Amino acid sequence: MRLDGLDESAVARAAALIAAGELVAFPTETVYGLGARADDDAAVARIFTLKGRPSGHPLIVHVAEADDAARFTTSMPALAQRLIDAFWPGPLTIIVPRAPGIADAAAAGQPTIGLRCPAHAVAHALLLASRHAGVPGIAAPSANRFGRISPTTAGHVEDEFSTELPVLDGGAARVGIESAIVDCSGSEPVLLRPGALTSLQIEEAAGMPLAIAHAGSPRAPGTLAAHYAPRARLRLMSTEMLQTALRVLGSEPTKLAVYSRSVPSGVATGVRHRRMPARPEQAAHELFAVLRELDLDGVHLIWVEEPPPGLEWDGVRDRLSRAAAA
Ligand code: TXA
Ligand code: MG
Repeated sequence: MRLDGLDESAVARAAALIAAGELVAFPTETVYGLGARADDDAAVARIFTLKGRPSGHPLIVHVAEADDAARFTTSMPALAQRLIDAFWPGPLTIIVPRAPGIADAAAAGQPTIGLRCPAHAVAHALLLASRHAGVPGIAAPSANRFGRISPTTAGHVEDEFSTELPVLDGGAARVGIESAIVDCSGSEPVLLRPGALTSLQIEEAAGMPLAIAHAGSPRAPGTLAAHYAPRARLRLMSTEMLQTALRVLGSEPTKLAVYSRSVPSGVATGVRHRRMPARPEQAAHELFAVLRELDLDGVHLIWVEEPPPGLEWDGVRDRLSRAAAA
């Protein structure tokens, strides 16, 4: 059921559903989320069932305003507060110590909780209206089946689930890749997932260097090697490798797509070529939509030119290498 995010009564209806323990998908500036009230364990359990998400993988709790974060934590670490002041509302999730007894199911029993205040007018309106109805926060993973590409439009959400799921439509997500996640529960900040904010920006606001996450942390599926996968097999290649492969391929291309910043010479007819934007923000904005489109086109293989070096490409590089690992 599509609800117009710009229509106040539709937002009110979505908030009423959330307050009643139902699921509602909603837009954020990063990707669409599949929301349930964070303080209702039965509602949150429905998210896990619908996504096919293994239990034990905690969800992010979304709040209307920065001040709403306080009740989810025993005490807000100074480091987390600096990041909140610098980036909220915005595409940053902080992991902080969880107040006992709140959002147990959303936190999947972890002693910590992930919190985020999205910078999106429709998300904000939904969170405010829900708060008005007594909802302290909305737990929401990306609105896709477990392991698949995150949705950046309401249509993507409907493709993942069904048109019966209430989806607030807020247009195409501006950022296009999921929020950066910084664990602030220890003595030093740990980057669990890169996003649109660069590690340099985060370090500047934190006032200290970021520690790198240890590989294989079981509690963050977004940090599993094989995640964000299209149906097609995706291969990341250097510019030279791509050029050579296309030459070797000659005129026998079937169901192959190339996604590259450079315009490779000698792309045989029949190979679908998509130009990757030169700016990292634009590349992030369209990345998941392009992968979905190629899947819908029935492409079996996607050859992707590696993004250039540079911190500002970290988020896109991360999502592409996970898609390639699937
Ligand atoms: O941009 C985003 O963050 C989107 C929008 C909807 O807000 N949400 C999103 O949620 O990407 P999800 O569930 O797909 O990814 C959240 C990641 C998961 O890898 C989860 O394991 C991790 O955050 N996470 C959540 N709570 C955590 C915690 N307490 N400790 C460690 N990792 C946590
Ligand atoms: Mg996800």
